Amino acid sequence: MRIWAVANQKGGVGKTTSVVALGGLLAERGKRVLVVDLDPHGSLTSWFGYDPDTLAHSVFDLFQHQGKVPEGLPAQLITDTNCSGLALLPASTALATLERRMVGVEGMGLIVSRALAQLWDDFDYVILDNTPSLGVLMVNALAAAQHLVIPVQTEFLAIKGLERMLHTLEMIMRSQKNQLPYTIVPTMFDRRTQASVKSLNQLRRIYQDDLWKFAVPVDTKFRDASQAGVIPSKLDAQTHGVRAYRHLLDELLARTGSLKVRQHG
Ligand SMILES: Nc1ncnc2c1ncn2[C@@H]1O[C@H](COP(=O)(O)OP(=O)(O)OP(=O)(O)O)[C@@H](O)[C@H]1O
Ligand SMILES: [Mg+2]
Repeated sequence: MRIWAVANQKGGVGKTTSVVALGGLLAERGKRVLVVDLDPHGSLTSWFGYDPDTLAHSVFDLFQHQGKVPEGLPAQLITDTNCSGLALLPASTALATLERRMVGVEGMGLIVSRALAQLWDDFDYVILDNTPSLGVLMVNALAAAQHLVIPVQTEFLAIKGLERMLHTLEMIMRSQKNQLPYTIVPTMFDRRTQASVKSLNQLRRIYQDDLWKFAVPVDTKFRDASQAGVIPSKLDAQTHGVRAYRHLLDELLARTGSLKVRQHG
């Protein structure tokens, strides 16, 4: 099992879109893929037609057992999507209450790792979608992941938000005594605008090895796909945006192919 997290503390940069686009492409390549919604807003959950306000069971249930994960529970929470090979561990809005409840509970940062350990042989790839704020959910995602994807919108102040995210990452990794390799992914690139061109150039100057050299272009097909409730490549397999994610996926597979796998019991 390979586990990737998609995170940035900045909102609206293309995290959820990246999770669905990459997860969908992996499933189309015959991989068994699980996408996990760790955002109380539940955008990933809504994408596939489930309502995070009314779901009786969700990833929230994993956090209800004093830091332990009962045997068999993660598998019970997983549901199908309309994309063959792509399963979803949905969010419910109850997740928003977690920060308050989890204070001081031992093992709270390893719940997602422990849940995924139970599913180790069931999926080839797991992609974790994150809320744009630092808290117990993001700490869980960063502890479980073997690779982090950081989408950054190519616009003014993009670098500022990215610096904040990298600082957070460093802080968390120091406390976990770990290192998490990452790939910065420029998104919503519009080559006709100065802001996009300048910020992509700036990213390329500052971040070298950790930056994907290309960018996901602005493409209205992503919004259309989320409205239609399908993976972007199903809506249009050849649109620029999907072609870019296909290229990004190859890059991520190349970067993560030889990584050492961590497994938490
Ligand atoms: N490459 C793109 N081109 C055009 N629109 C895009 C692109 N990527 C995402 N969008 C749109 O931008 C909006 C935000 O994208 P998305 O929900 O993926 O961001 P997010 O980082 O998950 O946001 P949040 O922080 O709120 O969870 C959505 O309406 C989505 O359809
Ligand atoms: Mg999102």
